[in-house]
Amino acid sequence: MRGLFISGTDTGVGKTALMAVLLTAGRLAGVNWMAAKPVQTGVRPVRGRPSRPVGDLAFVARAAGWHPAAEWLPHLQPYVLPSRSSPHRAAELAGVRIRLSRIVRGLCLMSRFADGLIVEGAGGLLVPLDGSRTMLDLIAESGLPVLLAIRPGLGTLNHTLLSVEALARRHLRLLGCVAVQSTPGAWTPLMLHNLDTLRQRGVPVLGRLPYMCRFARAPRATVLRALRLPMLRWVYPLLTCAVRERLNRVPGGARMRS
Ligand SMILES: Nc1ncnc2c1ncn2[C@@H]1O[C@H](COP(=O)(O)OP(=O)(O)OP(=O)(O)O)[C@@H](O)[C@H]1O
Ligand SMILES: [Mg+2]
Repeated sequence: MRGLFISGTDTGVGKTALMAVLLTAGRLAGVNWMAAKPVQTGVRPVRGRPSRPVGDLAFVARAAGWHPAAEWLPHLQPYVLPSRSSPHRAAELAGVRIRLSRIVRGLCLMSRFADGLIVEGAGGLLVPLDGSRTMLDLIAESGLPVLLAIRPGLGTLNHTLLSVEALARRHLRLLGCVAVQSTPGAWTPLMLHNLDTLRQRGVPVLGRLPYMCRFARAPRATVLRALRLPMLRWVYPLLTCAVRERLNRVPGGARMRS
């Protein structure tokens, strides 16, 4: 499987925003990136066979101008659970057991049709999926390297260092961290100092995603505008890195702009 797994230091930290930017950039570059959100909570599932994605996947599809085929949806978002709670609780309330094998089988199948997969977790790394397993177990099973969405402000040092340590303990590969500004406001000296502190401690901070005005209402136009910002120069090298091996094996295959 080629691609990356987006996790974060918390829920609401900007994982979906990051996925929207990466999927849009990847598809603009002519590379067949697909997105997946294996466990979506807080969204009522569609009765019968869904024809369109829901929740975070629907939002990133809109941003990227991507229309996943209906038959892919059970693989791209196998668990859609109505309760707005942690995956293990939402599954319990829905009378469902989250099976990692089902998720990973679906992702592997999809990866045959894609140059790369961008998979979004739910919450942070140690969010429970059932009585014993967490998001870390799903990441380990998927074999995908991790991109961590982090907050730039106060509290991020502790949250980010804990997350990096949790990945290292499981020998999971961290591609890097991106500081996402999910609320309006300028980048303060404290935020920039936080990112420097993380770098000094060996954390690969790849870059920043600024607050994008009108993102929720007009995701595609907003992301297209944001991708022109010098602050987002890290996007294409990151995507290239995540799919390089696969592209190198395809004679005349699409190449990313860097
Ligand atoms: N860079 C940004 N610009 C504008 N709005 C943002 C940005 N990043 C995040 N947001 C907003 O902040 C909120 C939380 O962001 P997002 O949904 O990406 O978090 P998440 O980590 O995916 O949350 P969850 O754990 O629920 O999946 C959303 O309303 C989103 O639109
Ligand atoms: Mg999300």
